[in-house]
Amino acid sequence: MTAHFRRTLLVRAVRPYRSAGHFAWRFAKGKLEGDPVFFGLLEHSLIPDAGRLIDLGCGQGLLASWLLEARALHESGNWPAHWPAAPKVENIWGLELMQKDVDRARAALGERAQFDQGDIRTADFGKADVAIILDVLHYISYEAQEDVLRRIRAALPAGGTFITRIGDAAGGLPFYYSNWVDRVIFFLRGHRLDRIYCRTLDEWLEVLQRCGFEARSLPMHKGTPFCSVMLIAKAV
Ligand SMILES: C[S@@+](CC[C@H](N)C(=O)[O-])C[C@H]1O[C@@H](n2cnc3c(N)ncnc32)[C@H](O)[C@@H]1O
Repeated sequence: MTAHFRRTLLVRAVRPYRSAGHFAWRFAKGKLEGDPVFFGLLEHSLIPDAGRLIDLGCGQGLLASWLLEARALHESGNWPAHWPAAPKVENIWGLELMQKDVDRARAALGERAQFDQGDIRTADFGKADVAIILDVLHYISYEAQEDVLRRIRAALPAGGTFITRIGDAAGGLPFYYSNWVDRVIFFLRGHRLDRIYCRTLDEWLEVLQRCGFEARSLPMHKGTPFCSVMLIAKAV
């Protein structure tokens, strides 16, 4: 992907956050520029076309902004020829614990996606074709993780896609560094955090299998000091 195109997509995905306040805009800019997951999802064509995509623990809705702008650029013909098509997603629903983030997501994206305040441990996910959870599962207990995964499986049709990013607890120093940074940011964003619930990559793959998924992994921390791994799972 050319540097020029990358810039165009970044600028367009960040721009809606101007109407959500300075913090939201700066946060969107920093995260979309610095986190390899957003380009990674497109470059590796991880998200298929979908009627309904659910983003659980969506924060201020950055993934929705990213996918909407990517698709708009793709449809306008401004898309690198050697790149897989941007996914066509009809409805995006983001669920987020923090009302402030929901407000920012709504202020930025208006009617282009739907955002609700709620807890993934108890919310009804409805039906979906694709479910995504980026950097959230370690905040909830092991039992709750497994329950959420089973309910995602029930929300998807056979062959439906579930994508999540986790930290590999067998990842050594980069894993401990990720956790430390994560805890500081989580605290600064107003959460109370007694402990986090991590697993090794192998343990995650086992849990996914138990919950009705066939999963593969893909490292997703290029250019960062972290050890994040993407799990791409198909509902069996
Ligand atoms: C590290 S942020 C990631 C945000 C978003 N997924 C992204 O990649 O931009 C984790 C998010 O999960 C949310 N979260 C944590 N526990 C949650 C829960 N039980 N239900 C819903 N959201 C939750 C937090 O409020 C926070 O916005």
